[in-house]
Amino acid sequence: MFQHVQRVYLNGEFTAPAEATVSAFDRGFIFGDGIYEVIPAYGGRPFRWHEHLQRLNRNLAVMGIPRPLDTACWEEVAAALLDVPGPADLYLYLQVTRGVAPRDHLFPARTEPTVFAYSNLLSPVPADQLEQGVAVITLPEIRWQRCDLKTTSLIANVWLRQQADDAGAAEAILVRDGEVTEGSATNVFAVMDGEVITPPLSNALLPGITRNLVVELMQRFGVSHREQALSREQLLSARECWITSSTKEVLPVTRIDGEPVGEGRPGPLFRRVYDLFQRYKQECRAGKTA
Ligand SMILES: Cc1ncc(COP(=O)(O)O)c(C=O)c1O
Repeated sequence: MFQHVQRVYLNGEFTAPAEATVSAFDRGFIFGDGIYEVIPAYGGRPFRWHEHLQRLNRNLAVMGIPRPLDTACWEEVAAALLDVPGPADLYLYLQVTRGVAPRDHLFPARTEPTVFAYSNLLSPVPADQLEQGVAVITLPEIRWQRCDLKTTSLIANVWLRQQADDAGAAEAILVRDGEVTEGSATNVFAVMDGEVITPPLSNALLPGITRNLVVELMQRFGVSHREQALSREQLLSARECWITSSTKEVLPVTRIDGEPVGEGRPGPLFRRVYDLFQRYKQECRAGKTA
């Protein structure tokens, strides 16, 4: 079960995974009352570290969970967890819950947040998925109105993703009032009339670190793009589509609800954006950027 996880960080201690236990009264367990981050690390270097930490701190502030560690302490934890022999890419998982308290919906007056972190191998995206693209389905958005927050309450997300998997699809693209919000664990991009479109940031979707980097790279390298609402109909008639996340990076979508996207193959704008992303990633690996 913990094949690749050598040790984890829990509340100030590094321990073997099997030794890391939390109270059954932890509000993370009882209510899903916590926030988290998943951060890829290439060549031992966390990718977009400051952006991830900023999102973590914003989520803590919104949820009224005290910041358990400052940046320097998080950096020490990250460095220790990434100090693993071998060249494999890893990811870091950071989670903070509101802590242990007698069960009550109200926030407890004084509790220490529970801090948990580990690293594990980052599985490379399978080559066939990159060459052929993946299938997705659209499903009604059933989540709450604050999907901009990265909370551990993920039951709707995991349910949606399971429905996609049961339908033979890699991801569920969610539609609220006729408009695409995001995937169950990804952000969405589509190409229409030679322009890349992605829904604008709002409470309806997570400000994905990968999404934001892709937008930044398109801006910097002159790829025509717009952050604007994307209807399900527009998505279904798009020439190209891709999804982004810290673990899937930039992944082409070539079937939506059983119909091919464009020619049914990853298109030229996907390739351009994918290359920009990979180049940026290599710079991170070489320590030239974060
Ligand atoms: C709902 C949701 N949207 C988007 C993303 C992509 O975010 P990021 O690029 O920061 O990994 C995730 C990542 O897990 C997610 O859970």
